[in-house]
Amino acid sequence: MDWGMKNRISRIIKPETGRTVMLAVDHGYFLGPTSSLEEPRKTIEPLIPYVDSLMLTRGVLRNCVEAKYNIPIVLRVSGGNSIISEELSNEEITVSLKEALRLNVCAVALSIYVGAKYEHQTLISLANLINEAQDFGMPVLAVTAVGKELEKRDARFLSLSCRIAAELGCQIVKTYYCEDFEKVVKSCPVPVVIAGGPKLDKEIDALKLCFDAVNHGAVGVDMGRNIWQSDWPVAMIRAVGAIVHEKATIKQAFDVFHNLKTKKKK
Ligand code: 5RP
Repeated sequence: MDWGMKNRISRIIKPETGRTVMLAVDHGYFLGPTSSLEEPRKTIEPLIPYVDSLMLTRGVLRNCVEAKYNIPIVLRVSGGNSIISEELSNEEITVSLKEALRLNVCAVALSIYVGAKYEHQTLISLANLINEAQDFGMPVLAVTAVGKELEKRDARFLSLSCRIAAELGCQIVKTYYCEDFEKVVKSCPVPVVIAGGPKLDKEIDALKLCFDAVNHGAVGVDMGRNIWQSDWPVAMIRAVGAIVHEKATIKQAFDVFHNLKTKKKK
């Protein structure tokens, strides 16, 4: 692997632990002003000290994140749909590699929609992006999207999507945790991170999700809503960090969460 590619990946997946806590705040690219992300700067800034990278769009990067922060950026470069369109899979590349380099990002991210109407288009977009990114030592993160069909999140479908993304040459895959998650990880020859999905009822459920994912082979998380839709986002990200980087148990992580949450109230 080329030095530039290795260096960018090691800014995302920390060599000290081999793991990563990525914060996903790219939701607006098709959801618009998502709940708790209406003012991205207010959501993002308090969390920056506790995350290894930010995943977002160029619009939010340029307008809502100060360039002074030394935070690795994973730039979403696919889009072209909205939550009110019938077919979410109709995505294409929206940002050039030149622009990604100008923004000094550490990786570019694109969603693939396996089994959906525009499967072919999104897979060819991924292949084209990888071809170009390879020339610049730019890692590509593939998101195995499920669109509105959340029930698709099972080991059979996710193994298929993750493996196809890896075969096309991406460096990192982002998918969902599921039953038999080890099977997904084992058959995917590149590092896997998990999305959190829609906000779970209780914080402890999200911590359990993180714990199960990293203890079944994920190198970390690329989560959004379960962090910043919590009433205590900083406590939540720090508890997630304890699981991912410090091998905390669910109880230990929940204690971190609970102590920070209680402190904030005083
Ligand atoms: C959207 C994405 C999001 O970044 C991803 O879903 C992670 O966020 P969350 O944890 O809220 O699901 O890639 O396609």
